[in-house]
Amino acid sequence: IDADVLITGAGPAGLVLGNLLRAAGIDCLILERQSREHVENRARAGFLAANSVRVLTGNGLADGLLRDGARHDTCAFRTDQAEFELKYGELGTGEVHTVYPQQFLVTDLIAEFLARGGEIRFETEVTSVSGTEATVIADDLLLRAEYIAGCDGQHGVSRQSVPARIFRRDHEISWLAILAEAPPSMSAIGYAIHERGFAGHMARTSTVTRYYLEVPRGEDPAAWPDERIWDELHVRMAAGYHGELKRGPIIERRIVDLGSRVMDTIQRGKLFLAGDAASLISPSAAKGANLALMEAEILAGALVAALEKGDTTALDRYSADCLPRIWRAQEFSHWMINLLHSPPGYGDEALFLRGLRDARLESLRVSRAHQNFFAENYVGI
Ligand code: APR
Repeated sequence: IDADVLITGAGPAGLVLGNLLRAAGIDCLILERQSREHVENRARAGFLAANSVRVLTGNGLADGLLRDGARHDTCAFRTDQAEFELKYGELGTGEVHTVYPQQFLVTDLIAEFLARGGEIRFETEVTSVSGTEATVIADDLLLRAEYIAGCDGQHGVSRQSVPARIFRRDHEISWLAILAEAPPSMSAIGYAIHERGFAGHMARTSTVTRYYLEVPRGEDPAAWPDERIWDELHVRMAAGYHGELKRGPIIERRIVDLGSRVMDTIQRGKLFLAGDAASLISPSAAKGANLALMEAEILAGALVAALEKGDTTALDRYSADCLPRIWRAQEFSHWMINLLHSPPGYGDEALFLRGLRDARLESLRVSRAHQNFFAENYVGI
């Protein structure tokens, strides 16, 4: 046997799981396709919900986050002539986000996992996983474990070994995800609803800001040089009216097709999925990394009970424990998609859906009950 637990993938899910298992003295090995440098520099999400911060803090994984993370408690919805802010930290359950770029979190989690005596094999590609045999093939080598955690993300192989019914939706919406070497232009998370499509603004650090632009499906990011991006953001975020954007070089431009996937089970024999391998959620409500951490915590507890006490009750109901939370996050994320987009064009149906979107936004602007619902779901699950 090569390890008690073999983990495929060194993203937030695999690394948090590995750290929690090491804290309980369980021997585990992480197999990661990319190099350490690659995963430590891969900019992705950045908004950690209160529960994620609790998981990290409660397990000694929050030093960097508590030192360098920033509290975030406000979002703003804007149109051409109007803007309203929701101070979600004062609404709902009063929880806030902590902004800490994912690559910093991943860097911290790798260092801590190694310090706890864990092993990571970088540049090692897993090509097949068997939940019934509890084996993994990586770089033509057969590895055995008591349990396998499939944390290899959206494009990984482990979920293919879970025979499940898959429920999915392609939202037929694409975003150009942009990272700009520029300070945030506003203190809030900004959601701009515009005739030409959605635009978003999210702080990352004092010198880097994430923006999103809705673009047609199949768009080539190369068609978006820096100046075109800033000019389009200027128009959609109505910067002439609400205040100029702080421009800077674009350091990443990538297309994200908004899609959602849920499986009716996320386990098979000795194999358990967590993170983007278990479910895919559109980035509209920044739930992906938070779901990954929630699942990693539940799975860690269940694996410790099984390995230390021979009690598999929690492992047996792992899917049943996670799926209702996954669905709730999906539901809210879906609601956000419909708040931020409407189909292009001026046909009867497009205009009908636009009318609904505007009414939804207006309800959010004026109804305290609606705002509380939003805040509760936006930061919690
Ligand atoms: N073999 C080994 N490693 C693999 C393989 C493979 N066949 N396929 C993928 N991986 C690795 C990827 O290189 C990546 O480092 O698995 C890791 C999966 O990490 P993430 O994609 O970050 O997924 P996850 O840990 O589930 O976190 C989900 O983090 O990246 C964000 O946007 C994502 O918010 C979401 C959250």
